[in-house]
Amino acid sequence: MDKKNIDWSNLGFGYVPTDKRYVSNYKDGAWDEGMMTSDANVVINECAGVLQYAQTIFEGMKAYTTEEGHIVTFRPDLNAKRMVDSAKRLEMPAFPEDRFVDAVKQVVEANAAYVPPYGSGATLYIRPYMFGSNPVIGVKPADEYQFRVFSTPVGPYFKGGAKPITIRVCDFDRAAPHGTGHIKAGLNYAMSLHAIMSAHAEGYDENMYLDAATRTKVEETGGANFIFVTKDNKVVTPKSDTILPSITRRSLIYVAKEYLGLEVEEREVYLDEVKDFAECGLCGTAAVISPVGKVVDHGREICLPSGMEEMGPITKKLYDTLTGIQMGQIEAPEGWICEIC
Ligand code: PLP
Ligand code: COI
Repeated sequence: MDKKNIDWSNLGFGYVPTDKRYVSNYKDGAWDEGMMTSDANVVINECAGVLQYAQTIFEGMKAYTTEEGHIVTFRPDLNAKRMVDSAKRLEMPAFPEDRFVDAVKQVVEANAAYVPPYGSGATLYIRPYMFGSNPVIGVKPADEYQFRVFSTPVGPYFKGGAKPITIRVCDFDRAAPHGTGHIKAGLNYAMSLHAIMSAHAEGYDENMYLDAATRTKVEETGGANFIFVTKDNKVVTPKSDTILPSITRRSLIYVAKEYLGLEVEEREVYLDEVKDFAECGLCGTAAVISPVGKVVDHGREICLPSGMEEMGPITKKLYDTLTGIQMGQIEAPEGWICEIC
């Protein structure tokens, strides 16, 4: 199969339409059999639940070309499961987990020409999503839904790739206690847009959100979880009911313990402690692991000893091991790699 003529190494994190996408509709209490389509446009009623009351959820995952030339995805079963959790919280029908994985496979296979080659630094980002599609004017769940999966080739989420970024402690909250911070609802991202635009306007790459209840604990950023490394090489990652249970973070915890023999603590992390860490990174599907060099707390600069030039050494080991597993250079734990073709 011939690859598309794309400058893979210079791709940013943007939307490039690919040839095929998957669509399935929910009506009268059941999902239809689903199909692949070339039509990238969605036509819905002006009063659709998603347009009026933001009833929409999504997932994010990637397809990789391995060293041996296979196309694989990483732990798609966990995305399928998380989407069911998101659906339940927003009173949407679950899309069956096995069908989710099958839809992802179909989309990747149909767009294989867009999966960036091994070593290009790019990947195919896959975006499963679901929304309320029929008219809803009183505040209530829709009766009809559409589940779709599209894909787009992407490069690094942060400009500069592996260069450490500078983030600020944010005065806006991302998630309320007992709210929706733990699911992947579009509304969580809509309400982060003002915060990210104002962070960018002030010269920061991202926001560090604190827990809304006490504003003393580190939560996450708008699109990634945190991992910290202590000066004695322990990996520490915030535990909270109001952050997204990142699949990358869960995988890194395993990699740190089982592949690198590191001690890992999943616990509450106080903002006051950040100055004592040796390394800090953001982890997620889009972010992979993006190193943080500086955290600015209302003018107080917290400079991580790993500096602004490169990833800290433990972060680098985690990054190399995780991406090595994803690209087939390092043997993966059972069930982590889903080979598509
Ligand atoms: N936190 C938020 C708010 C996210 O949007 C994401 C991205 O999906 C993550 C964390 C990372 O999660 P994952 O590693 O499953 O991509
Ligand atoms: C992902 O990492 O897949 C996400 O959904 C994060 C988003 C901010 C791009």
